[in-house]
Amino acid sequence: MSGTPLAVRALRDDDGVALTSFLSGLSPTSTRFWHGATSAADAAADWIEAIGRYDKLRLVAHHPDRPAEFAGVVDLSFSLPVEAELSRYAGYGITLDENRTVRFGPCVADAWQGRGLAAHLLPPAWDAARLFGRDCVVLFGGVHADNHRARRFYQRHGFTEVGAFSNTDGDCIDMMRHLVR
Ligand SMILES: CC(C)(COP(=O)(O)OP(=O)(O)OC[C@H]1O[C@@H](n2cnc3c(N)ncnc32)[C@H](O)[C@@H]1OP(=O)(O)O)[C@@H](O)C(=O)NCCC(=O)NCCS
Repeated sequence: MSGTPLAVRALRDDDGVALTSFLSGLSPTSTRFWHGATSAADAAADWIEAIGRYDKLRLVAHHPDRPAEFAGVVDLSFSLPVEAELSRYAGYGITLDENRTVRFGPCVADAWQGRGLAAHLLPPAWDAARLFGRDCVVLFGGVHADNHRARRFYQRHGFTEVGAFSNTDGDCIDMMRHLVR
């Protein structure tokens, strides 16, 4: 990552403008793979609204001196909706333990992609998961089948593909990995 010492911290309730700017700055391709048709302002407002209220923990990465310029974000969710991951994985013959599983999704600003930033976000994400007693990681909503960069990234970092499904976003792949406790 060229030695840039990025800070990684939890999203705060005063981060709305920075998060909107990060999301609205994503290229159409990144947007399609990330928050899709939801507007940047609405997606950011949802994340801010959820702080401390729901099952979510969002991490952001930025230069220590530029806290309002996000280079990347991580979405962690500590609940498993029955109609989503739980039932999809059951369909693959995998029983997810709701108390030990976390849903995970990273997004890196286009200017930072291909520089190893997402790998830099993994240790703090796994530390946060372990703090909540989670040692099984599944992709939040899977990964688009044509998101080959992300699929390669996940494979390089210990995820395996466990099944495929289709929804309004198109064809998607479910991937999971376990963490050493
Ligand atoms: C997938 C993602 C998280 C990977 O993060 P990253 O920090 O770019 O990861 P890496 O630096 O390890 O690069 C991953 C691969 O993508 C390639 N890559 C990254 N950005 C690229 C770009 N803009 N154009 C072409 N290739 C690119 C890298 O060369 C690397 O290729 P390799 O697997 O052959 O080595 C990031 O690309 C991203 O946020 N994409 C948009 C949102 C997204 O898809 N999130 C995942 C949703 S499931």
